This record gives sequence, structure tokens and C-alpha cells, in this order.
Amino acid sequence: MNLKGKDFLTLMDFTKDEILYLLDFAQEIKKDTKSGHFLPILQNKNLALIFSKPSLRTRVSFEIGMRQLGGNSLTLKQDEINLGVRETIADTARVLSRYTDCVMIRTFAHKDVEEFAKYATVPTINGLTDDCHPCQIMADLLTIKEHFSKLEGLKLTYVGDGNNVANSLLAGCALVGMDITISCPKGYEPMERFLNFAKDTAKKSGFKVEIVNDPMSAVSGANVIYTDVWASMGQESEAQARKEIFKPYQINDKLCDNAADDCIVLHCLPAHREEEITHSVLEKHAKSIFEQAENRMHAQKAILASIIG
Ligand code: CP
Ligand code: NVA
Repeated sequence: MNLKGKDFLTLMDFTKDEILYLLDFAQEIKKDTKSGHFLPILQNKNLALIFSKPSLRTRVSFEIGMRQLGGNSLTLKQDEINLGVRETIADTARVLSRYTDCVMIRTFAHKDVEEFAKYATVPTINGLTDDCHPCQIMADLLTIKEHFSKLEGLKLTYVGDGNNVANSLLAGCALVGMDITISCPKGYEPMERFLNFAKDTAKKSGFKVEIVNDPMSAVSGANVIYTDVWASMGQESEAQARKEIFKPYQINDKLCDNAADDCIVLHCLPAHREEEITHSVLEKHAKSIFEQAENRMHAQKAILASIIG
């Protein structure tokens, strides 16, 4: 599988085989890391990380992951480079391409990451935009694959806001052949282009993509229940109003009882306990949820090792 030089902007740019290859590779790298074998496959390679929004997992998992593979990383925060304000995104992309081997960006507008990738001569990785969060979903799929020893045929139900994470889950689940149900209030559905991609992909392979408003019926038969915050970064002013709108979409014990017996609960984190998920459910599923957080690092190492030339 040759992915050298490729950007990682959305899962929709990848084929099923490429996603499955990256997941297998991530499992292999994770095994090596756990047994103390740190293969220096990115020796002398440098990754720049640009953050226009806060982060714990993304920053640390990329920085440590890069180091585990023998490479280096450098984090640039908004107050340092002021992406798109101090100079054009195109100029920033061309300058960073002269110093680094890969750039990861977390920002607001998805088109800014596309603009960066257009001008960069090194691969660009999307570390979250308002539209999608593909690295997160690679970690999620890795966690599900490790737990169930398969992906195809499983059902994932996402309950909550049809946000960046929900958009990428639609693309990711459809690509690997999982049924996906999204349960959200009316007006908070995922973006059309992700929904249409998932529906078209699923139609070809015979899997289901549904939007079901009622969370109780949405989780019926689910092997994985997934949620995320009700107000994403950048939506802080809507947080109070959203708490009321999303109240019926909380992941609690009663909701989980309606899922499949073997159901696990995932959350990309950070979590707001007693809002989108109860403390009780989070703690019951802590093993999977923190494995999922760890898997960010292994999934991203597979991506980095594959796309950096
Ligand atoms: N899940 C995730 O992307 O976490 P951070 O916002 O802390 O990076
Ligand atoms: N939807 C959340 C995800 C955080 C990892 C946000 O964009 O803030």
C-alpha cells in the first residue's frame, strides 16, 4: 500500500482497503511499542503541529507518537502564528514545507486546512476542523476492532450532536462496513456530504445508515454507543441553550440497557459528566474509553509512517 505524500484531510479521500491497511499497521505498531520495540522509522523526520483550538489528546499523542518513531515534533499555538491572519495560509504552508516533513493542523474552517494542503509540498494532516475529525475515528475503529476482533457487521449508534466527530464516524463506519445510526435532535443532523457519502458507500456494500431521532430505539441492537460534547469548540456561547435541547440524548444506564448485551460505550473526550454521558456510564466503560484515547497515538503513528516520504 503506497500512501507516501498523501494528505490526511478526510476519511472520504481513502478507500476501504487503505483504511483497513492503516488499522492493521496501527495494531502492529501498538504491539511493537508495548513490547518495547521503538522502530526508528521516522528518524530525522520533523512534524509541525498547528493549534488554533485547545487540545490534550491530539497534541500529546502526536508529539509522543512522533518521538516513539524516532522523529521530532514542534507545536505552534494560535498566539504564535495566528494562522491566516499574520500572513496568508498559502505562505505559511510554503514556509513550513521548507522546514518540516509533515504538518498537522487543528482549526475552525475546513477550507483553511484544504487551502494549506493545496500549497504545502509536504503532507497535511487534519487534527480536527469544524467539519470533521478523521484521526479520532481511526483510533475509534482501532478500539472497536481490538475489542470485537472485527468491524464488518457491527452496529454503532452515535447519540448527540451531529458534529465533526459524527460526520467522520459516518464516513469511517460506512467505509469499513459497519451499520451506523445517528440519533440527534431535529436541526442538529450531520452534514449532508458525509451523510450522502455514507449512504452511497453503504448501499454498495449492503450496510445501514440511519438517522433516528428517538435515542432509545436508535441504540437497539447497538454493539457500540458513542457520544461527544453537546457544544463543540467554537460553540461556547450556545452551550447553555444546547444543554436543554440535548437533555433527552444523554448516555445513561437506562439507555445502555436497550443496546446489545456486548455493547461498549466510546467517547472521544473531553467528557462533560452528567451532560452527554453520566459519570456512572463513563466509569463502567472507562477501560474502552481510555484505550480509545491511547489508540489516538498508535493510529496516528500508522498514518505518519505511511504518508511521510
Ligand atoms: N479527542 C480529542 O481530539 O481530544 P483533544 O481535543 O484533547 O485533542
Ligand atoms: N466535537 C468536539 C470534539 C472534541 C475532540 C469539538 O469539536 O470540540
